[in-house]
Amino acid sequence: MAATRNERRPAGKRRRGAVCGRASTGARGPRLIQGDCIEVLSGLEEGSVDAVVCDPPYAIGWQNESWDAGAIREAAARHGHGRLSKPEAFEVWCSLWGAGCLRAMKPGAFLLAFGSPRTYHRLAAGLEDAGLEIRDTLMWLYSSGMAKSRRYPDGRRTALKPVLEPIVLARRPLDGTTEETIAVHGTGALEAEACRVEGRLPGNGLISHDPGCAEGSCAPGCAVGLLDVAAEGGEGGTVPQLAPSRFLYCPKPTRAERDAGCEDLPETFLNLLPNASRGGMVTNPHPTLKPIDLMRWLVRLACPGGGLVLDPFMGSGTTGVAATLEDRRFCGIEIDKNYLGIAAARIRHWGGLGANGSPCAASSSARPPRTRSRRAPAGQPRR
Ligand SMILES: C[S@@+](CC[C@H](N)C(=O)[O-])C[C@H]1O[C@@H](n2cnc3c(N)ncnc32)[C@H](O)[C@@H]1O
Repeated sequence: MAATRNERRPAGKRRRGAVCGRASTGARGPRLIQGDCIEVLSGLEEGSVDAVVCDPPYAIGWQNESWDAGAIREAAARHGHGRLSKPEAFEVWCSLWGAGCLRAMKPGAFLLAFGSPRTYHRLAAGLEDAGLEIRDTLMWLYSSGMAKSRRYPDGRRTALKPVLEPIVLARRPLDGTTEETIAVHGTGALEAEACRVEGRLPGNGLISHDPGCAEGSCAPGCAVGLLDVAAEGGEGGTVPQLAPSRFLYCPKPTRAERDAGCEDLPETFLNLLPNASRGGMVTNPHPTLKPIDLMRWLVRLACPGGGLVLDPFMGSGTTGVAATLEDRRFCGIEIDKNYLGIAAARIRHWGGLGANGSPCAASSSARPPRTRSRRAPAGQPRR
């Protein structure tokens, strides 16, 4: 797939200059909304969204972020589901935002949501309880995860090194047959042709290179490189086989990709690899952002050309950047006003908001962070 890291839409060729303040989900300009998505979703136009592409909290207490832990249980309790275990509350919470998405989606529209191997089953069950049909599970494989485990005598550990994240593929039920749904709503089928990788139809496996890989040569231990070698029959093998890297090329976000567009925002300390002492000052400190190329491919797969993509957990706006680069309309919801400001800056950088475009916040105080803050190095590189 095409690399996007150094790609930037020239200012004169920006397609979407609209300020989003008055936009509905049907308008051309991106709409970035600050608020709790469970509340905000109920106010979106019914049946207006062509695809939901999102990366919700996994409920694993990631880097002690409250949105990934206590806030989920509190939200479930607020909606009448108290006294639940953490996993039960997560499932209920997923069914709540899933129902909000279902309402906003067109019949036949697809929803893609990342999950954690530990809590994915609750995510999928919650979305199913909301009325969505589970259609598939995609697996995103990478090699740069670090095990979050103590060492015990005799080489024992309590956890494996994480090398994958599942992505649930669900669909709002059709309106009649698939053909009828496509004819009436333009949704119902995946854009497989547009997602060919090296000429081949897409599969449900996505592989990331190691951050140390360069174009054409893999770092030692890179999952893609190892699989290629294996498929070719080992080092020096002569049996011609399909190379796994052909399924999807998807680099991890570099610091340049993370910070592009955020140059005017204050710097914050971020260390996603505390054990490797690789922390540094960044202008986009979001701890869990996804690669633009990966989100572009998912947007292209799930959303018909020119359609409207919704991300109810926008974070620093990678889905909005992807939608902009793939010529899809975008509506993003984010509860944290600092992340909303970062998302607006990144989407603007990639041409999705006009020079003066700003987020339409539920509270109009959405702004990039003003003060330098230091985030305590903690946690591990991937959730
Ligand atoms: C995993 S992150 C998404 C990161 C994003 N994919 C990116 O590349 O930047 C999840 C985001 O959801 C936000 N969030 C959590 N609960 C929310 C809620 N109820 N409504 C809206 N946003 C929420 C968090 O603040 C966080 O930024």
